[in-house]
Formats: sequence, structure tokens, C-alpha cells
Amino acid sequence: MVRKNRLDAVIEVLDNFLKTNFGGLSGSGRNNPAGNCNVERDSKEDRKKKKLAGELMRINHSGEVAAQGLYQGQRFFETDPHMRKYLEEAAIEEADHLKWTFEYMKSKDTKGSLLNPAWYFGSFTLALLVQSQGREKSKHFLAETERQVQKHLMRHLKTFPTEDEAAQKILKKMYEDEGEHASWAENSSSKNLTEGLSKVEKSAMKIMSKVMIELSKRI
Ligand SMILES: [Fe+2]
Ligand SMILES: [Fe+2]
Repeated sequence: MVRKNRLDAVIEVLDNFLKTNFGGLSGSGRNNPAGNCNVERDSKEDRKKKKLAGELMRINHSGEVAAQGLYQGQRFFETDPHMRKYLEEAAIEEADHLKWTFEYMKSKDTKGSLLNPAWYFGSFTLALLVQSQGREKSKHFLAETERQVQKHLMRHLKTFPTEDEAAQKILKKMYEDEGEHASWAENSSSKNLTEGLSKVEKSAMKIMSKVMIELSKRI
């Protein structure tokens, strides 16, 4: 029985991996905050702007690919039903983000990063390692990840021109959702908790996200 459940879990992850990277992942069904992300086809200069906007959003799209890997990894060996349920729900919201950023990229004729499968696999493995150190560690990791994503989104809200309403609306909604994910993890952690994340762990997470940002923008 246990074996069958584990096999089910492996199939579930493989299914999520394929759908995240090649399309078909279903989210909560919320509409894209940017509407249908209308394509603008204007002068040469506009094409340049469009390319840059697409490349910038590709970073966020890759972040959402990584988010799927993280949530699947944290859930893989998790046995607490409450935690499992929350991870599932959050992953569904992340699937919305994946879809919205993809739609925006599509409107800018931009494709996703070629490294997306690597981001997924790396995040999945990292999350497995964290989860193996206990549930509280897992919650701290979730909260820290989401807070770091929020800081990145805040920077991107300033990087994208204010007249790019589609990008602004998508990023704002994502910022809100990531904050809720972080709050859940923070509020559901035990008060007696002593295991947080060390400074080294937090710095390592920041360095890894910087590497992902730089590479996703280019490849
Ligand atoms: Fe997200
Ligand atoms: Fe999130």
C-alpha cells in the first residue's frame, strides 16, 4: 500500500513537471489580472521594448516554474494533512502565476527559459532536503522564499514601466499572493520554534535566486 502511494506520488510529480514545463497545468481558474495581454505591434523601437519586457517577465515565469518544484518537493514526504493541504492550495495559486506570466510573455513573442527543467529539478531537490530536516524548517524555508520573491517583485514593479499596465497588474497580484503564502507559513509555525534558517542558508538562497534571475533573462 505504502509502495503504491509512493508510486502515485512519483507519477504526480512527473505529471506536474511535464505540465509545468510543457503546458497544461491547471490553476484555480482565476482570470489573468492583465486581461488578455493585448499584443502591440508598432515601430522598431517598440519591438525593442517588447523584447525587453518579454525577457524580464521570463525571469518571473522561471520563478514560477521553480515554485512548482519547491511545492512538489516539500509535499513529497510530508505526512501532516494540514500542511499537505496548504502546500497543494498554494501550488494551485502558483500555477495561476505561471499561466499569467506565460500569457504575458506570449503577447511579447517571448518563449520560456530553456533552463526551466533545471530550475524545477533543482528546486524540487532543494525542497526535499529542507523537508527532511523537519516540518518547522520546511515552513521557515517557505516563508523566507516567499518573502525573497516579494522583494524581487517589488523591484520588478519599479523596473517595468508604469504604463505597462499588464505587467504591473500581474506583478501586483503575484506580490499579494506570495505575501499570503509567507504569512501562512509564519503564522502556522510553532511559537517554541528554535530552528529557523541560518544567515548562511538565507544568503545561499539569495545567491541562488540571483543566478536564476541572470540566467533566465538570457537563456
Ligand atoms: Fe508565485
Ligand atoms: Fe508563492
